[in-house]
Amino acid sequence: MARPPCSVGEVRPPPEGGLVEVRDGRPVAPDNPVVAYIEGDGIGPEVVNAARQVLDAAVRKAYGGRRRIVWWEVVAGSKAVEVCGELLPQATIEAIRTAKVALKGPLATPVASGHRSVNVALRRALDLYANIRPVKYYGQPAPHRYADKVNFVIFRENTEDVYMGIEWQAGSREAGRVREFLRREFGVDLREDAGIGVKAISRFATQRLMRKALRWAIEHGNRVVTIMHKGNIMKHTEGAFMKWAYEVATTEFRDYVVTEQELYEKHGGRLPEGKILVNDRIADNMLQQIIVRPWDYEVIVTPNLNGDYLSDAASALVGGVGMAAGMNVGDEVAVAEPVHGTAPQIAGMNKANPTAAILSGVLLIGEHLGWREVKEVVEEAVRRAMRDGKVTEDLAIHMPGATPLKTDEYTQTLIDYIESM
Ligand code: NAI
Repeated sequence: MARPPCSVGEVRPPPEGGLVEVRDGRPVAPDNPVVAYIEGDGIGPEVVNAARQVLDAAVRKAYGGRRRIVWWEVVAGSKAVEVCGELLPQATIEAIRTAKVALKGPLATPVASGHRSVNVALRRALDLYANIRPVKYYGQPAPHRYADKVNFVIFRENTEDVYMGIEWQAGSREAGRVREFLRREFGVDLREDAGIGVKAISRFATQRLMRKALRWAIEHGNRVVTIMHKGNIMKHTEGAFMKWAYEVATTEFRDYVVTEQELYEKHGGRLPEGKILVNDRIADNMLQQIIVRPWDYEVIVTPNLNGDYLSDAASALVGGVGMAAGMNVGDEVAVAEPVHGTAPQIAGMNKANPTAAILSGVLLIGEHLGWREVKEVVEEAVRRAMRDGKVTEDLAIHMPGATPLKTDEYTQTLIDYIESM
């Protein structure tokens, strides 16, 4: 196999594959799409390679020899330092731009010092503005009484909000100047020892996210799209997020949607057949709602910080990070990755649960590229593994009588289930 590209001149997709194209905003895949992958750090190589094997088996099962994935390795993180001498080669970004679809393992980020997040750099470089996280139950041990009723998808804005890192340390010259500016121009008094951050939410970023969420809802036959915000307090950022999201729904998607207000004013509280209800929930209530009434939610659209809290709380409902899949999507490119990190404590021990990486691959191939049969086959295999107590250690400790499988044994178990279907 060819060495991963380190310089832009070396970016040449494997010749046996075809490239995914984007037409009218939609990816169109040939029968042999090139899919880039980054193994990542820590447990990354173990879980990403497990995912590739399971996806290959599912594609074989679903389409015989008619379709196959042509994997293309690109590097980031410690392997990139080893192979190319830098953490995130420009060639990796260009290769993903070329392939338009990638599966990525977790990458380590040191806390409070050291290099900045390679994950964030990659998302920025490719403008992957929507973070899509399905939260779904497959029969895994879960702490929640209604775990089996949890089945929703979170669309988290990925580029704005307090996450932009526009902030100044307490006592710094910059913080002093910002404080002085606010006092002079707006009569706002901040304490001298306050750190200051900026929260920005734009109409542009809100509306492109909402468009993606509504398209998803239409394609999946969802009945409700919920806007999560803290607009009662932060009126001009989170409140505006709500307003702009509704605006997209009631203009560009007018034929498809009914707002909660219209539901009661015009439809007697009953959603007309074929329509999508668009409603909104205040952030704190939303966190409560997914626990007490998870069945009311199908697609949730949220700014960046709310989305961070919501996604982790939601994945805990159904058994935690070992099962949580995600995908970052822009207008052209999609990069799927498990929600979890590099789990350095168990790296290289053949213990990691690869399900999150596998289900991320399903999001990419089964949802984004539309190979639905792959999704069905893999999800059924995961359900069977849970049913039979054939799971990795992180889940086995919650299942009385289950013997934990190693990563490779669990992967083989899924492949066996797939082949026997
Ligand atoms: P983590 O997700 O790596 O680990 C949290 C806990 O979950 C640990 O106990 C770990 O052993 C366990 N865990 C995680 N994934 C697992 C799996 N697949 N199977 C079994 N157990 C699993 O989060 P942590 O410890 O906060 O971060 C470690 C490193 O990962 C940091 O350098 C962080 O920056 C990076 N990270 C990278 C992400 C990415 O690339 N998208 C996301 C989150 C963290």
